[in-house]
Amino acid sequence: TPQGLVDGLGRKIDYVRLSVTDRCDFRCVYCMAEDMEFLPKAKILSLEEIISLGESLVNLGIRRIRLTGGEPLVRGGIVELVRGLASLPGLDEVTLTTNGSQLTKLAQPLKEAGLKRINISLDSLNGERFLRMTRRDMLARVLAGVDAAVAAGFERIKLNTVVMRGYNDDEIFDLLEYAQTRDIDISFIEEMPLGEISSHDRKQARFSSDEVKQFIEQRFQLLPSAETTGGPSRYYRIPGQAGRIGFISPYSHNFCSSCNRLRVTAEGRLLLCLGQENSVDLRSVLRGYPGEPERLENLIRDAVCRKPEGHGFTDPDAPQVLRFMNMTGG
Ligand code: GTP
Ligand code: 5AD
Ligand code: SF4
Repeated sequence: TPQGLVDGLGRKIDYVRLSVTDRCDFRCVYCMAEDMEFLPKAKILSLEEIISLGESLVNLGIRRIRLTGGEPLVRGGIVELVRGLASLPGLDEVTLTTNGSQLTKLAQPLKEAGLKRINISLDSLNGERFLRMTRRDMLARVLAGVDAAVAAGFERIKLNTVVMRGYNDDEIFDLLEYAQTRDIDISFIEEMPLGEISSHDRKQARFSSDEVKQFIEQRFQLLPSAETTGGPSRYYRIPGQAGRIGFISPYSHNFCSSCNRLRVTAEGRLLLCLGQENSVDLRSVLRGYPGEPERLENLIRDAVCRKPEGHGFTDPDAPQVLRFMNMTGG
């Protein structure tokens, strides 16, 4: 359609986050439980199915695709998938969000395959803390991965830090300095309550973006930056520094009214909102009617009309979202 996708509340939808696997080599405490059961292969969209889906999404007016997981770089064929999606006419960019563990090997091939921007999770620069938050002893590997991403020359690199009280809230300056000395962006994120997690009390660990911002402002001036990726990050700059500082604040600065996005899980469920449980099964249409993209496109168009107004994270009566974050990669 020439006018693209617009939901029932008039929001323009032109961005999709595609989860390519629910598996991950980390077990971050805010994302997963210690014991996780993963989807069997047969339930996961094949690379061909993801490309067909990508074509339909572009036909519908989607201009940006971000690949997520689980950890997208543990999916076999990820470089070929990026190449296939990046070559779709009409798509402005393919981006990816990763935990960084595979980047020494994959940063360069991904860049060559057409990946524009990459976001890398980094919660701590201290090995013990890193282990406590990700449950894996992989800090050195991730730091080498960040170096590899910088060397590969992506258009932009952003670090993602989920700030948790009592875990990493005293590392804000260290992480900021780490990003700034590499001229890369960093986003500080408020933990969202997805999935039942027993490792910590989420309410107790909550650390608001305003607290992070006030903390930074004790030492640096933060100038609001108008730049946006259409995403939820509110960006600031420190005078004289190239890297930007973002805040993703689902609790303290709800951004649902400007939401531009859809998500698809690794098993091909279309999620209309990160913080809502309802979904639409795309896989059965992709598999059942492979030569009839119009069917899939009509299904998506109709679903978008019913996109919810927003998440209920601040509503104490809202039901707990049972889906863990690894089903959607954020
Ligand atoms: P771009 O907008 O493409 O630059 O990326 P991003 O910052 O939105 O994506 P990234 O994968 O780096 O995610 C960073 C954080 O933002 C994660 O914690 C995501 O869960 C969160 N996030 C991204 N989109 C949404 C959204 O629509 N709603 C909510 N509540 N959180 C989101
Ligand atoms: N709340 C906020 N951010 C989360 N992420 C994973 N789980 C959560 C959560 N519960 C972040 C990761 C990664 C991005 C994809 O989502 O840190 O950077
Ligand atoms: Fe894996 Fe990312 Fe979840 Fe951490 S946040 S367990 S790296 S999918």
